[in-house]
Amino acid sequence: MLDPAKIRQQFPIFAHYPQLAYLDNAATTQKPKAVIDTITNFYEKGNANIHRGVYGLAVQATQQYEAVRQKVAGLIGAPKPGTIVYTTGTTAGINLVAQSFLEPRLQAGDEVVISFMEHHANLIPWQMACKRTGAKLRVIPMSQDGILDREAYRNMLSPRTRMVALVHVSNTLGTINPIEEMISLAHQQSIPVLVDGAQSIAHFPIDVQALDVDFFVFSGHKMFGPTGVGILYGKEAHLAAMPPYQFGGDMIRDVAFEETIFAEAPQRFEAGTMPIAGVIGLGAAVDFLQTLDKTEIRQHLKQLGQAAREELQRIEGLRVIGNAAQATAIVSFVMENVHPHDVATFLAEDQVAVRAGHHCTQPIMDFFEIAGTTRASFSIYNEMWEVEQLARSLKNIQHFFSV
Ligand SMILES: Cc1ncc(COP(=O)(O)O)c(C=O)c1O
Repeated sequence: MLDPAKIRQQFPIFAHYPQLAYLDNAATTQKPKAVIDTITNFYEKGNANIHRGVYGLAVQATQQYEAVRQKVAGLIGAPKPGTIVYTTGTTAGINLVAQSFLEPRLQAGDEVVISFMEHHANLIPWQMACKRTGAKLRVIPMSQDGILDREAYRNMLSPRTRMVALVHVSNTLGTINPIEEMISLAHQQSIPVLVDGAQSIAHFPIDVQALDVDFFVFSGHKMFGPTGVGILYGKEAHLAAMPPYQFGGDMIRDVAFEETIFAEAPQRFEAGTMPIAGVIGLGAAVDFLQTLDKTEIRQHLKQLGQAAREELQRIEGLRVIGNAAQATAIVSFVMENVHPHDVATFLAEDQVAVRAGHHCTQPIMDFFEIAGTTRASFSIYNEMWEVEQLARSLKNIQHFFSV
């Protein structure tokens, strides 16, 4: 069994805020001491730029930076470190694929399929690529429970479909999409698939080879690593065929005024000075995650999510948004006659940190005809008392506004 209290001790922030129920993990997770120490150590004892220096510090920094590719490959079951591209986050990874992989092969009349529950980061880059080329964005519909319509998806795929881009876990509804099946359906028609793993990477074991996914993207800061760094996994053949996305230092093999020869992937996608300390910190986050049992993580989050849903559904005037049987510990809700931001502000007074708003998923808000939700999202260091603290505080808010 996962011991959240013990895990909590590894996160210095909770020593400073022992009463805090931090339930904003879908926005960003807290950082364990091992990650903080690794970054501090790098700046104190190892700082240098990578790849070009021949002195000790530069060689060591380069080795550390490159070694993280292997760690990340191990975490997600990627075949080779060369299939791991460092980015600045999920958003950057999706933009890279949309512009470098998809756009050159997109023509007027082609189609790109996304789902109704995409984060704006997995919507706008494809929308822009479609607008620039005259292609059409198709959207998989969803039910009132926040479940994608698989039949509609199946019917949507056609010889005109050039790409499918899907969120693995909805950051607003908590729905876990059946991506194995959805990838396989797309592949039956040779359509490449990108999966946005921003919310799944810290919740489940991921095996990109078993999934046979073409691209998988995520952010370091949602998996106990630092901000400013993320990962794009891409199949080797795709990455090798993709032109660079940004140009400048470190992504080249040879430069003259007439012509430039670019480096191979993944270096050709890493222009300029990358977030070196961030990458090295991400390596420590991967090491930390690897000390935990993924099945136990999944079980723990399932329990917290179910408990939160049950507690919240019992509160009068409170509606949970999204009700998929396959869901993780991300729970959105609205309280009758109280604005989601007011709910979040009152919760903050009771030491419950949540988020309110559209969560970068405005189409979901339009679908449910609401301005926004309040969202509680859990992680490995959250415990049952935090669910109770949330529910108790919500009951008080409900009572306060109803008298
Ligand atoms: C599902 C999903 N996709 C993409 C993103 C964007 O991540 P980032 O801002 O780290 O690029 C988020 C962030 O909340 C997310 O939850």
